[in-house]
Amino acid sequence: MAAAVHIATDAASGLTFPVRDDECLLVGMRRAGNGPKGCHGGGCGVCKVQVSEGGYEIFKRMSRAQISEAEQAAGIVLACCVRPSSDITYRLF
Ligand code: FES
Repeated sequence: MAAAVHIATDAASGLTFPVRDDECLLVGMRRAGNGPKGCHGGGCGVCKVQVSEGGYEIFKRMSRAQISEAEQAAGIVLACCVRPSSDITYRLF
């Protein structure tokens, strides 16, 4: 089955771009020329975003040094560790 494509919106710039549901949000951000260059491993924290709308799956462990439990509960995640499950709106820290 082909991957679904969702639309991601950068709340700060209004830029929208597609992200497949089998790739992380950061890959879509970088393809759109709108994402930081980082470790892609959940450790460096440069891809920290707050999701304000939409769903996502956390598929990779996020370092607690970068994302606390309270932040995670507030929708703050690492873009390299989440895959969108719907259209999604986020703000990069
Ligand atoms: S790129 Fe390093 S934590 Fe996401």
